[in-house]
Amino acid sequence: MGWGEDEVEGIQIAGYLHDVGKLVVDRNIINAPYRIDAKQSSELNRHPAAGYEILAPINHPYADIPLMAKYHHERLDGRGYPDGLVDEQIPMGAKIVSLADSFDAMTTDRPYRRRRSFEDVVRDLRKNTGTQFDVKVVRAFARAILKEVTGESKERRVTKMLGKGYLEDAQVPTLLSDLIADLEEQRTPVGVAS
Ligand SMILES: [Fe+2]
Repeated sequence: MGWGEDEVEGIQIAGYLHDVGKLVVDRNIINAPYRIDAKQSSELNRHPAAGYEILAPINHPYADIPLMAKYHHERLDGRGYPDGLVDEQIPMGAKIVSLADSFDAMTTDRPYRRRRSFEDVVRDLRKNTGTQFDVKVVRAFARAILKEVTGESKERRVTKMLGKGYLEDAQVPTLLSDLIADLEEQRTPVGVAS
């Protein structure tokens, strides 16, 4: 996405710290081996603002980390929390953490459900890009995974994280390149001849 090394490092650190606010949430809710109810979920939803409170006073070289923690559950369409921000109000770093977090949630087993297939995950990204996820972020992410699975990149970050076999299905490169092509179209502003 054209970010410098320092900025990338800052986002990486935000990735480690974004959920630190969960420290203030009842542990039984965090570790619940079942889907939590509405009341528990509103308790859990305190964690981004709490994370901001924890991180903001810390003097560190990555200025935006507290805001990335605060806004990693915002959505482009304003239906996220804690502040219901819309697209351009959400820091790009928070959008990146948000996608990484959601992708991780979808591709990790939970006590009450298995992780979703990659085909299903791509379907989810396609459906929620532009309302929940930022088009540019999803496109960059899909490109990065595609480069790994085709061997164009020597990086193995995503493939390693997902474990053996998950991305080995023959249809994976097609799923990704179709997604990227569709997102390219979405980038063209309405009414502008291409
Ligand atoms: Fe979170």
